[in-house]
Amino acid sequence: MGYNVAVDGPAGAGKSTIAKLVAKKKGYIYVDTGAMYRGLAIHFLDHGIKAGDTEKIIEAAEHADVTIRYEDGMQQVYVNGENVTARLRSEEVGRMASATSPIPEVRAKLLELQKSLAREQDVIMDGRDIGTCVLPDADVKIFLTASVEKRAKRRYDELVEKGEQCDLKTIEEDIRKRDEQDSTRELAPLRQAEDAHLVDSSDMTIQEVVDAIIAMCR
Ligand code: DC
Repeated sequence: MGYNVAVDGPAGAGKSTIAKLVAKKKGYIYVDTGAMYRGLAIHFLDHGIKAGDTEKIIEAAEHADVTIRYEDGMQQVYVNGENVTARLRSEEVGRMASATSPIPEVRAKLLELQKSLAREQDVIMDGRDIGTCVLPDADVKIFLTASVEKRAKRRYDELVEKGEQCDLKTIEEDIRKRDEQDSTRELAPLRQAEDAHLVDSSDMTIQEVVDAIIAMCR
């Protein structure tokens, strides 16, 4: 059994940035489960499927083969043999992932892949339901959050840096909607596990958060 660290929290809390740094420092493998939902979302979008068309989504999910590989230590997502990693981070894909992730067949598709990655190796895995559903026996559980305003500003700065046009208020609204969608769904909603450590990164630097998490690990 690998050593397992679970990191859950809302969109934009910095989970992936932090988890990647902790992974590097501790020699764990970083598993980004949001990227798997995003990979499936790309598959649905490429097939012209709309977010509300549950039947078509279930059928398309059945025919999608999602696999993860590590190249130079970076997680790569393949869907039906195609590397879709470069397309994962767009807002359109994020919205589709959030809209389709409540569907039980979509979650079931990815659950076994996530569990098997954690079984044999030391991992830090981030998502929404890792501490509550995917790895209920994780050695360390963290619920990483920050205020909506701080999360929106971070996302805004990230997009501006990439040279993308964006509007802070729109991003803030999008984050609120995503929070609502992720935490009110019936199956595996975003929620802090009872035995998770709460880390509010609103007024912490990245390094402070990384140090706090490393202090909790073996
Ligand atoms: O972390 P992210 O923004 O890449 O995740 C994209 C969407 O995928 C998110 O809005 C909800 C869904 N998701 C999920 O339901 N469960 C997870 N463990 C990870 C992500």
